[in-house]
Amino acid sequence: MDALGAFLLFLGLVVSVVLSHKQIKSFVSSHASRFKKEKVVDAEKKSMYGSDEPLPKPTPLMITPEQVQNYDDRPWRPFRWPYHQTMSIFRLDINHWLDMDKYYVHYIEEKKRILNKYGKQNMDWLPESYDACYELMETVTEHLIQRYPLLFTVLKDGSFDEKTGKGKIIRNEVTNEVLDMTLPLKEYPLWYVTKLAKEDFYIVKKSPVDEKHYLVAAAVPFPGGSFDVHQKVGCNLDVIHSEVPYYKEKLQKSMERWFNRMKSNEPVERASWYISWDHKLKINNVYQIPKYVPNQEADLSSTDPKEFNVRVERQTLRRLPRSQAIIFTNHPIFYSIEEMKDEPLVPSLIKKIIFEAPKDIIKYKNFEVFRNHISDYLEGLVQRQIEKGIIDKDTPLKTLPSYPFAHWADTDFDYVNGWNNPSPAYDKSANYTEKAKQELTNEND
Ligand code: HEM
Repeated sequence: MDALGAFLLFLGLVVSVVLSHKQIKSFVSSHASRFKKEKVVDAEKKSMYGSDEPLPKPTPLMITPEQVQNYDDRPWRPFRWPYHQTMSIFRLDINHWLDMDKYYVHYIEEKKRILNKYGKQNMDWLPESYDACYELMETVTEHLIQRYPLLFTVLKDGSFDEKTGKGKIIRNEVTNEVLDMTLPLKEYPLWYVTKLAKEDFYIVKKSPVDEKHYLVAAAVPFPGGSFDVHQKVGCNLDVIHSEVPYYKEKLQKSMERWFNRMKSNEPVERASWYISWDHKLKINNVYQIPKYVPNQEADLSSTDPKEFNVRVERQTLRRLPRSQAIIFTNHPIFYSIEEMKDEPLVPSLIKKIIFEAPKDIIKYKNFEVFRNHISDYLEGLVQRQIEKGIIDKDTPLKTLPSYPFAHWADTDFDYVNGWNNPSPAYDKSANYTEKAKQELTNEND
């Protein structure tokens, strides 16, 4: 090799090292930045992009179908004290719109069972939702292909343009299911959405008549039990939230303002939660009607408090640019109280909230049903934290600085296994959906 050849080779090497370093940096920052405190911006106060720029495409996450089986999603800890009813929305890094985790395959399977068995009760739509559902199908498909290239394979790649396009065929590498979305579609577009993503979907449109926002379609197999989805399709958001404590006083105005101003490049997320002693996705024991579970009280009192868990309802909101519909997703994740017992103040916060939250919230979340049963257990965990020096008895009880996530969300993360709870009490191989399957073998849901 002559001197010029050697120089060019050297230059090429330098450029490729710099480039790959840059790529890695951008990859790392797009994943980890969500957890830097200054980035967790309260979306009510600060605009994300401040312009009409389209949303950036998601960054590819190169996890394989085998790795998904061990992948844990972000650890939510949405416990607030004092507990005021507020919107509590945060800007959403679009990479996290449709998160992936080790439960994905079970949720998809359970969705099928519920939708086959209950049909319209859990998935329904009005004809005027068609354009929004079609755009949603397209958006979900493109998002999943771009974000998880090794989990979704494009077998036939046509455009979704309804006049000129041919549509797509996708293979889901986690479930091995092939989804034929060639045009004309064989099913209503919402069907494909619900087969692709593990989330529940609500499609909301503003009425030109009264300017209110209406639920025009919903695919919600996992409502948890506190409400009936079927009854809500065709209702506006005020009616839908009529049972929600302090909605009129604390939420209605800010939600209205937010929905009217929300741009398609300003997605947000939030989380709500309640407690139960089972892992059913459709109706949890805490909301089960005694008519269907006559032995509910006996079941509760014979359940070890260590079996109790927090069901976090992880929610996102985004506007679709073409139809202008607002898409609300909800995704339940269970965390046992045991797996959070080493996290400063978590047992103290849960105990405080179930006994001292505003009374209508206590009622809405059915805290009274079980709180005496787990009160000694929670107090034991609080004392344990004091003895271990995790907190001291004067540590002020207030919302965690890492809210809405666990304090270790910034640090205990890798690209293959996702988020790794460092507590010895956490069994990474545990899979609550196996339990859910056993719990779901009767008519109790
Ligand atoms: C910023 C937007 C929103 C906020 C702040 C909000 C807030 C809430 C709150 C506080 C609850 C009570 C559960 C809890 O404790 O968290 C609730 C329940 C509910 N929300 Fe929303 N929500 C929003 C958007 C939506 C949208 C767009 C839909 C779609 C239709 C929706 C559907 C529901 C349903 C079905 C319930 C259960 C109602 C029941 O128990 O009868 N929400 N929401």
